[in-house]
Amino acid sequence: MEYQAQNLRDFVRQHHSRARVLAVTSGKGGVGKTSTSVNLGIAMAAQGQRVTVLDADLGLANVEVLLGLNSLYNLQHVIAGERRMRQIVVQGPGGIDLIPGSSGIAKLADLGPHARENVIRGLMELQEDADFIIIDTMAGIGQNAVAFAAAADEVLLVTTPEPSAIVDAYAMIKTINQLRKDAVIRIVVNMAANAAQANMVAAKLNHVAQQYLGRSLATLGHILRDPHVAQAVMQATPFVLRYPAAPAAKNVQDLAASLLRQKREQERGRPGFLRRIVQNLGLVSNA
Ligand SMILES: Nc1ncnc2c1ncn2[C@@H]1O[C@H](COP(=O)(O)OP(=O)(O)OP(=O)(O)O)[C@@H](O)[C@H]1O
Ligand SMILES: [Mg+2]
Repeated sequence: MEYQAQNLRDFVRQHHSRARVLAVTSGKGGVGKTSTSVNLGIAMAAQGQRVTVLDADLGLANVEVLLGLNSLYNLQHVIAGERRMRQIVVQGPGGIDLIPGSSGIAKLADLGPHARENVIRGLMELQEDADFIIIDTMAGIGQNAVAFAAAADEVLLVTTPEPSAIVDAYAMIKTINQLRKDAVIRIVVNMAANAAQANMVAAKLNHVAQQYLGRSLATLGHILRDPHVAQAVMQATPFVLRYPAAPAAKNVQDLAASLLRQKREQERGRPGFLRRIVQNLGLVSNA
């Protein structure tokens, strides 16, 4: 087993990250992470990108519920070494690939060495098969969510204009920042009444981050509060496919275009997602 671990260490060290990894996260729950992950993924796939959405909300298998899917295998089988990551990929709507999550997995950091190796190997496979990996994380400053967010190439921090969501978003930013000062954090204001309100929310967060953390945040954009979103959820269909002309769908298409215009933040020679997640999970302390 030592031999296997050594192998993995070398592999991670030599591995050149391919996919751009976006962690979709939030402070407060229910602000639209899953909805944003899936619909943004589909909008990017429509622009010719190979997109994999990874359901890392290991408490509740969220993405599947949203899409009315019920797959046989999920991340738990990969963690247990019973399936390879490539074997559990599900074809999602709009040409995206989905990695089903699993309820009942507690903390990645608490997994044993073999289970963690299985996770890392699986993530490596995903990196080879996609242009973008969108990780739909759990809300809040739990270990898994923070480990993924601090390892990702970019964090999409979703908040609503509600004061409690903004306060919790700031707590999340602070926690990510403690782990990684150069994390790229892009704000997405969901359920906004209008663009002006969304801009105010983003400006407020940016102001606080500058004042207390000495750093600035990027703003990716906003998604308006739109009844089509809930209607699509009732039909277990992504709103960008079901109501492509609806305001929220237009917004998501804009977010996708904006992400595609931006160059990936990762520079050559800088440790990529895999090395950072390995570090964050404590598998290889100096990979
Ligand atoms: N732009 C929007 N307009 C109106 N309703 C929305 C919008 N975005 C999300 N919703 C509603 O909010 C609900 C919660 O969204 P979603 O499940 O994506 O949040 P979440 O952040 O993933 O939640 P959790 O923290 O539980 O994982 C959805 O069922 C949807 O109906
Ligand atoms: Mg969710």
